[in-house]
Amino acid sequence: MNNSHSDVLIKFEKVSKKYGAFHALRDVSFEVKAGEIVGFLGPNGAGKTTAMRIISGFFPPTSGRVLIRGIDIAKHPHKAKRALGYLPETVSLYPDMKVIEYLRFVAKLKGVPGHELTDHVRGKMSFCGLLGVGHRLIGRLSKGYRQRVGLAQALMADPSVLILDEPTTGLDPTQIKEIRELVHALGQNRAVILSTHILPEVSTLCSRVMMINQGQILASGTVKELASCLKDREAIHLRLKDRRDQDHALKLLGAMPGVENLNCAEEVKGETFISFETSPEEDLRPLITKLFVEQGISLVEIQRQQLSLEDIFLGLLKDGKLGRRF
Ligand SMILES: Nc1ncnc2c1ncn2[C@@H]1O[C@H](COP(=O)(O)OP(=O)(O)O)[C@@H](O)[C@H]1O
Ligand SMILES: [Mg+2]
Repeated sequence: MNNSHSDVLIKFEKVSKKYGAFHALRDVSFEVKAGEIVGFLGPNGAGKTTAMRIISGFFPPTSGRVLIRGIDIAKHPHKAKRALGYLPETVSLYPDMKVIEYLRFVAKLKGVPGHELTDHVRGKMSFCGLLGVGHRLIGRLSKGYRQRVGLAQALMADPSVLILDEPTTGLDPTQIKEIRELVHALGQNRAVILSTHILPEVSTLCSRVMMINQGQILASGTVKELASCLKDREAIHLRLKDRRDQDHALKLLGAMPGVENLNCAEEVKGETFISFETSPEEDLRPLITKLFVEQGISLVEIQRQQLSLEDIFLGLLKDGKLGRRF
């Protein structure tokens, strides 16, 4: 069974983290199983890096518990961290070292036996596409190659848990594609968490998404669940010629069953834009058109649009609904 308890590689139990009086994480709980690539999706300052630093044992939580393969990281940090690879947000590499020197150094630190060192390091370099730059100075590498060195470093102890903090930020599209392919290959039998503030990343790479904002999980679900949720929602956009009709229109729409998240956008040249969310099963457009004509409201445009992942994410950020599952 894939769902057995032993498959849970990362477990966060009611984790909170305060920096002084500031709450960077509030009561966060989740699990990640082997074979999952989980995306932490959230804007800057959401708490992604903080959560990742706690998982990697960089600092302890203020309260709560973190288990890596069932081992409490606070009680047995060395044992828990043995199974863990971490690619920090800014990789602090040694610019004056050659790639191969640095990776051999990391391998020794991670306890790779001397007689296996050369093959082991070579294997990681090959996997990360670094064989051609082994004798280059790290400081002279492009950001994409430095990121690969960071990844090779994180993989050195063959970890079953891999934490990647914004692995593609600052890379060009080709480099992003290459890093994504590497991460995809890595996710087969490990628990991988990667953070990102960009949506396409999670939909192309992750089996599950956790939307994080202000230190809390706003929503979580599989990408499939997200996609099916999108099919169930759509937005309707209205344009009113005369902004004086705005209040009247909002009142009518607000009283209509099936209308959710009613929004009024800025006026342009005296016109008003109104939008709301609804289910696609019932097309409200004919009803609204008829009603608005009867009431003398200056409706000039009415459009349906399928909601995007971005709309949902932004909507969640805006109204801060907690604990929603897709
Ligand atoms: N060492 C620190 N001391 C004080 N505040 C911090 C520290 N690190 C992060 N923060 C604050 O905690 C919040 C979460 O930060 P972070 O975890 O880095 O978010 P993310 O990685 O999602 O951008 C931010 O408001 C940030 O300013
Ligand atoms: Mg961060």
